[in-house]
Parts: sequence; C-alpha cells; structure tokens
Amino acid sequence: MSSGFDFDQEINREGTHSVKYDGRQNMFGKSDVIPVWVADMDFAAPPAVTRALTERAAHPIYGYTLFPDSLYDALIGWMQRRHGWAIQRDWIILCPGVVPSINAAVMAFTQPGESVIIQPPVYFPFFSAVTQTGRKLIQNPLHLENGRYTIDFDHLEQCAKDAKLLLLCSPHNPVGRVWQPAELERLLDIAAKHDVIVFSDEIHADLIYPGNQHHTLAAFPEHAAKIITAVAPSKTFNIPGLNLSALIIPDQSIRNAVTQVFNTMHISASNPFSIAAFEAAYREGEAWLEALLIYLRDTRDCVETFLAEHLPEIKVIKAEGTYLLWLDCRAWNRTDAQLKHFFIHEAGVGMSPGILFGAEGSGFMRLNIGVPRCTVLRVLERIRQAKYR
Ligand SMILES: Cc1ncc(COP(=O)(O)O)c(C=O)c1O
Repeated sequence: MSSGFDFDQEINREGTHSVKYDGRQNMFGKSDVIPVWVADMDFAAPPAVTRALTERAAHPIYGYTLFPDSLYDALIGWMQRRHGWAIQRDWIILCPGVVPSINAAVMAFTQPGESVIIQPPVYFPFFSAVTQTGRKLIQNPLHLENGRYTIDFDHLEQCAKDAKLLLLCSPHNPVGRVWQPAELERLLDIAAKHDVIVFSDEIHADLIYPGNQHHTLAAFPEHAAKIITAVAPSKTFNIPGLNLSALIIPDQSIRNAVTQVFNTMHISASNPFSIAAFEAAYREGEAWLEALLIYLRDTRDCVETFLAEHLPEIKVIKAEGTYLLWLDCRAWNRTDAQLKHFFIHEAGVGMSPGILFGAEGSGFMRLNIGVPRCTVLRVLERIRQAKYR
C-alpha cells in the first residue's frame, strides 16, 4: 500500500444489502460462492468521498436538493484533465443512471418498430433497452480473431442503412476493448453518412490500463455525427449504489429530446448524498484512481500468468480497460449450462455467464477483478482444484 490506499484490505460486505454478496442466493442458488460477478468493486471508495458523505450526513435534513455550480465545475474539470475534452455546462444533463439514459435515448430517437444497433457480446441492458421498448434489435457482432475483438465495419455499414440509433460501449464491457481513434472515426463516418445517432456509453472510460488511451467519441473535431455521451463516477470510484451519472450532449435539439423524456417521467437525480459523492470524487479522487489502475493492472497480469500456467485451456482476452476480464472457456467444449454448473457448484465461484451478453458470449465467463488480489487468487485456486479434482 505504498500509494497510501489499501486495495488489499478485505472488507466484509455481507449484510449491507449488497447485490453482489447478499444477492448470491438469488443469483446462484447458493450463498457461499465467491462473488465476482456484478460490476462493483470490493474496495473502499476514495477517502474524499467518504468524508463528503459524512459531512453531508451530519446535517440532519435531507430535503430536495439543487445541483450546485461546483458539481458541474467538478465534472467539467475532470473531462478536461483526464480526457482532454472541453465541455460546456449547458451540454450536461444529470440523471440517475446510464441504463435509464440508454432507455431514454431509445425512446427519444426511435419509434416502436424502428431499429437500434448493438455490438454483442455486450452489456445485457443494451438488448433490453431495445426489446422492452418495442424497438427492433439489429446486431452487429464484434469480430474475434487472434484473441482480440474488432468491429465488423462492412456489416455495420449494412446495419446503419436501416437504423436510427447505435448503442456503443466504449470501453467495451465485457470484451475490454478500448477503441482506437481510427476505429471511432470510421464508426463516426458511418453514423454520419446514414444519419444514425450514437449513444456512447463511456461509463468505463476512466478505467484504462497503462499503455492504452480512451478517446471520447464526441471529442473528434471533424465529425458530423450526432452523439450522446454517458459518463459517471460510479464505476471509476466504486460508488454505483449512489446513482448519479451525466449525459454530455453538445447538440441542443438532441439534448432537448432526451430532457423531454426524463421530464415526462419526472426523473430527477437530485439526491444530496450522490451530489456530495459525485463532486468529491471528480474533484479529489485522482490520486486514488491512479493507484487503483496500477493495482488492477497487476491483478489482471496475475490472472493471465496463473491461467497460462495452471489452466491454459482458459484463454483471457487481453483487457485494455475495465475491471472485467472475459475468459474464453470454449476449449473445454461444455455447454453454457455445464459451464455454469461447473463454476457455481464445483468451483464455488460466482462469475457472470458469457451467454448473458448475447449468443456470441457462449462458452465465455466474465470475471470481475475489482477485488483484493487474495480474493482473485482464491477464485483461481478454486477453479484449478475443481478442474483437477
Ligand atoms: C457499460 C455499462 N453501462 C452502464 C452500466 C450501469 O450503469 P448505471 O448503474 O449508471 O445504470 C454498467 C454497469 O455495469 C456498464 O457496464
């Protein structure tokens, strides 16, 4: 813990109504699996966040709350410092979560029966945002070659001819890609040519491994595409339970259309605790994040080494970003039901089954490494022992 932040510390989350821990019985049918599934981390949030929450809690009235100027300034400063993107205050819409915003965008820019493109295997609410609102799902599956996923642009161009909206996951959950400028520019060209609006879910944008760089889709100077960017401190600083995220939308008519959907549902995100945490995280959380990124990189490398040595049939897709590792278990030739059974009942490990992320996820598992390294090692050891029992 030379950084002053102790990511090795094991903190008991049981009994805190944690989805990850207290939701195990419901999710896996047993409560003694090591939970490495839902995307939150087992690390204490940055001290500045806890301090801000404690200070706010000390005032005993928790009434309706305004978004202070200082909150907007904290986000504007973060985007400029960390992503080199100069945003204006008017472009920002605060909202409870990225998933509700995806749904709002689908409702704002498509009519029932119209088409929305997604790129599976992908975070499963991308599917439901389209199907549950009666829109048509167009799938542009990512292409996996030599252990690396890329976008099939020829196919995307075909898809774009019929679509109104594209849901981009950048960086990509679960495959861990951090898209490169050339890829993003090609995608923007296609979107502009076919007048497809792009919703760029950049919730994982701060979680980038050394040697990679996140590029904000909307920050390309020459593009003519219409873009909605979603960001949040929730994954970055491990505060997803506080439910506050932001949309950044330079185009006023796009902004108005999204606002209209939120207003229709009276959705407001003005929670005094989430406001305090959001601002403190973006203002004071940078040193914590830098230390976290090194810790996660070392854990990722440790998983790769362990699997290569002890379970070489499981191939890890090299994560460029996110704390989610995508494990290719297809060499075992097991059905998804068999894989699930093996990991839950034989190994005692609660990962997310790849099939949840679309048919392309069949034979894969998603491992959340946002936990103390000793937990990850326990997980790997359990898998190894179950395999060779
Ligand atoms: C790509 C992506 N988008 C959105 C979310 C969830 O966002 P929120 O909790 O703000 O709705 C997640 C959580 O795992 C995610 O991975």
